[in-house]
Amino acid sequence: MKTLKPREITEELNRFIIGQNKAKRAVSIALRNRWRRQMIPEELRDEIAPKNIIMIGPTGVGKTEIARRLAKLANAPFLKIEATKFTEVGYVGRDVESMIRDLTELAVNMVKKEEQEAVMEKAKVLAEERMLDILLPTQKKKTIGNEIEQEDSSREKLRALFKAGKLDEKMVEVEMPDRVLPIIEIFSASGMEEMDMQIRDIFGNILPKKTKRRKLKVKEAYEYLIQEESKKLIDMDKVVKDAIERVEQSGIIFLDEIDKIASRDRTHGPDVSREGVQRDILPIVEGTTVTTKYGMVKTDHILFIAAGAFHMSKPSDLIPELQGRFPIRVELDPLTKEDFYRILTEPDNALIKQYKALLATEDIALDFEKEAIEEIAEIAQKINEMTENIGARRLYTVMEKLLDDISYSAPDMEEKKIIITREYVREKLGEFLEREDLSRYIL
Ligand SMILES: Nc1ncnc2c1ncn2[C@@H]1O[C@H](COP(=O)(O)OP(=O)(O)OP(=O)(O)O)[C@@H](O)[C@H]1O
Ligand SMILES: [Mg+2]
Repeated sequence: MKTLKPREITEELNRFIIGQNKAKRAVSIALRNRWRRQMIPEELRDEIAPKNIIMIGPTGVGKTEIARRLAKLANAPFLKIEATKFTEVGYVGRDVESMIRDLTELAVNMVKKEEQEAVMEKAKVLAEERMLDILLPTQKKKTIGNEIEQEDSSREKLRALFKAGKLDEKMVEVEMPDRVLPIIEIFSASGMEEMDMQIRDIFGNILPKKTKRRKLKVKEAYEYLIQEESKKLIDMDKVVKDAIERVEQSGIIFLDEIDKIASRDRTHGPDVSREGVQRDILPIVEGTTVTTKYGMVKTDHILFIAAGAFHMSKPSDLIPELQGRFPIRVELDPLTKEDFYRILTEPDNALIKQYKALLATEDIALDFEKEAIEEIAEIAQKINEMTENIGARRLYTVMEKLLDDISYSAPDMEEKKIIITREYVREKLGEFLEREDLSRYIL
């Protein structure tokens, strides 16, 4: 896979996120630096620590969205997790080390998938043979040449049918491992992950591998057999080794809602949970070794990107040690009316595109006049000012309210072409602007 240049990363992000250029720039550089580091001779490479980032900005302006889109671009193990999920060691909840375990798990799956793809052709061939074995169970082969020949020719006929997809719907029985999941679920629900991990392994080894015959369509059975054969073809030890290497060298963790673990008021004694979590996070960000079921994972070079709204607290409310470990700060800008207009129309997943597509399924062609969209953007902006500023999320409520009638009666409508005009927007939403109390509850 190719490595994107910072400019290209920003361009990709532009497809989904409007504005916020400083944040896009910072994450693009950080991502590219991961790759640059790989190119450096080893001694120096180990000295180059990742420059962790904190993204600060009001709610609903694109922080999480940037992370989500970045995850798809980063050709590296990428985990997004909310800091609020963690609790201090000894309390009920997830311990912070679990994020490294999750990231490793993710990397293992990622490498496994790549390896499986590499052996796919071979696996298909093997799966096809197994499929034919199932479809045509070989009778005890007698040494009379004639009979084997006959068998061979019927096998080839069957193969031709199979390849042509003629057998796809036929039912066959396939031997499959029986799941022992229920036992495990009980443990993982209580948050004892480490225990869960060990139990899974212990049981996995002790319990005899049970199998069960299941009836499947040929098409599905073939898919299953390909999976199984490709699993056999790959070397799991190598997969694990590569995965750990990848986590250590290029892993990225996005810590969302970091402001929620900052406590403003430290005079009231330590806030066990929040400050404790921060303290627990410290060594992981700084570099420590975490035990996972795949082996030890060093966290020294994992890149952390944190994000938070920080409207109740400030980055300076984080414990100083943690602040120091996030040297790069980028601020996201509050969104303007003009941004709203662009958010409604430009991104690949823009709201207006979404509503058009939804109504198209009812054979209705929905269209918006330019002025109507401007009006929607302005109303969203005004309501954000009047009540709470929830950023672009306001557009969701406003649009939903605006199209409420149409969404409800769409299937029964005679008129198949609807154009939303500025008047329509004013008519549907005007009263909310005049009556603050109303908009507080409804929009
Ligand atoms: N700059 C933007 N461009 C395009 N869409 C945006 C932008 N900002 C926000 N949105 C839209 O608003 C929604 C909410 O944004 P997002 O989840 O990124 O908020 P956030 O900044 O993480 O807020 P919070 O602090 O509350 O978590 C997103 O799903 C996205 O569709
Ligand atoms: Mg968010």
